[in-house]
Amino acid sequence: MYKIETRRVSVWYGPHKALDAVSLALERNQVLALIGPSGCGKSTFLRLLNRMNDFVEGFRLEGQVLIDGEDIYAPGVDPVHLRRRVGMVLPEANAVPFFHLRECSLRSAPAKSAQGVSHPRAGLSRPLGKRLYGTK
Ligand SMILES: Nc1ncnc2c1ncn2[C@@H]1O[C@H](COP(=O)(O)OP(=O)(O)O)[C@@H](O)[C@H]1O
Ligand SMILES: [Mg+2]
Repeated sequence: MYKIETRRVSVWYGPHKALDAVSLALERNQVLALIGPSGCGKSTFLRLLNRMNDFVEGFRLEGQVLIDGEDIYAPGVDPVHLRRRVGMVLPEANAVPFFHLRECSLRSAPAKSAQGVSHPRAGLSRPLGKRLYGTK
């Protein structure tokens, strides 16, 4: 069984096709470098692996992405659980692409605190919470 496998994966953002039938298979501990010009789909491919593209409006996928043999886009797969297993180290200090850090903290905080948020409930350090929310 491969650690990561994609089977004829195509991705669209609305009408725009960003990936065209990408198939590859990676063994555990294998290192892969994605090299190509800007806009060729490197980030789209990486974001597929922990379902970050789910946040993009108009995103559509065909094909299969398997991790440890499991289709991570199958119905019933919990993306939050998946992201605990499949991490991503980004070049910019942003916990989730497309979201401002404040939104990230709200989304990860308990539902109750998403109404009248206070930073300790969102699990932020005090200095960071103060900068985001302007509270002590
Ligand atoms: N959020 C998005 N909405 C619409 N189109 C996007 C989005 N992100 C990327 N694209 C388009 O998908 C293609 C692949 O982009 P991307 O994966 O960011 O390429 P790379 O990382 O190789 O520069 C590009 O044509 C880009 O314009
Ligand atoms: Mg990129």
